[in-house]
Amino acid sequence: MGVDGTGLMIERAAAHIPVMRDEAIAGLAMRPHGRYLDGTFGRGGHARAILDCLDQAGRLLLMDRDPQAIAEAQRALAADPRVSVRHGNFAEAAQWNEVHDLDGALLDLGVSSPQLDDPARGFSFQSDAPLDMRMDTTTGESAAEFLARADETEIADVLWRYGEERMSRRIARVIVSQRTESPIRSTRGLAELVERAIGRRERNKHPATRTFQGLRIHINDELGSLDRGLRAISAALKPGGRLVVISFHSLEDRIVKNFIRGEQPVATRRGLPPPQAVQPPLRAVGRAHFPSDAETAANPRARSAVLRIAEKQA
Ligand SMILES: C[S@@+](CC[C@H](N)C(=O)[O-])C[C@H]1O[C@@H](n2cnc3c(N)ncnc32)[C@H](O)[C@@H]1O
Repeated sequence: MGVDGTGLMIERAAAHIPVMRDEAIAGLAMRPHGRYLDGTFGRGGHARAILDCLDQAGRLLLMDRDPQAIAEAQRALAADPRVSVRHGNFAEAAQWNEVHDLDGALLDLGVSSPQLDDPARGFSFQSDAPLDMRMDTTTGESAAEFLARADETEIADVLWRYGEERMSRRIARVIVSQRTESPIRSTRGLAELVERAIGRRERNKHPATRTFQGLRIHINDELGSLDRGLRAISAALKPGGRLVVISFHSLEDRIVKNFIRGEQPVATRRGLPPPQAVQPPLRAVGRAHFPSDAETAANPRARSAVLRIAEKQA
């Protein structure tokens, strides 16, 4: 392999620092011969820490919707007889026949450093690249395709709801008028367009940050996947099994917190009578955990992390 592109890619691929790793492992209350699911393999920082706690009878099931993450899982860990690897969305975890009687499951949400740092993935406007943003590059619509086809209201809604962008309508109007002249295909092109539309309002934040967040969440159906994934995975936990979820923004954390409390999302409740009091499948273990100052100083991407732990009720 030498110093070729593949070698460099693997070296860079290793550069995801797992967030709140020790807290996640403590939250899983690891049983050495237990059966665990890591639904967001990324580059395997948490997965390796889970494996270190397992004996030869333990099992670790690994999923990721990103084919590059799965290639790395295959390369690094699939030879271990305790490990199984599957490409896919954790929302569909129930379709994997190995996902049952889990002692624990971990979801470390959002994007990985290799996804953010590889310009070709189109998640970041730090460099110019095709505007893709799909975690699973084998399926679905890219951000460029969405911006070429959606109407102004749909674009504005995505930026408002998932990017929490107050200027969503103005940005959507400029996108729709610009695309009649030339398609919006690149990360830089979109970032410059947003800056022209709303100017620079915050000192330490590029004006396109919220637009990129909103598009990413929409393109990957991140909140819908989380909702479906929590149901599927909690159903597969054994009584006493642990669920640990690390979220990176308030929209995700609200879904996790409400799910653990047994509250249905508002969207599925609208128009229905008030829900009957039923025992939620999970109980919260302690309060939310946040990274220490030392961790955020060493890894600024941990800054907005919130970790929650829950246990399956008997
Ligand atoms: C923050 S990284 C995980 C990092 C990992 N814990 C580590 O230590 O290397 C998030 C990963 O989850 C994956 N992902 C996000 N949502 C997913 C979903 N719904 N199903 C499967 N994988 C998902 C992303 O592709 C990304 O690789």
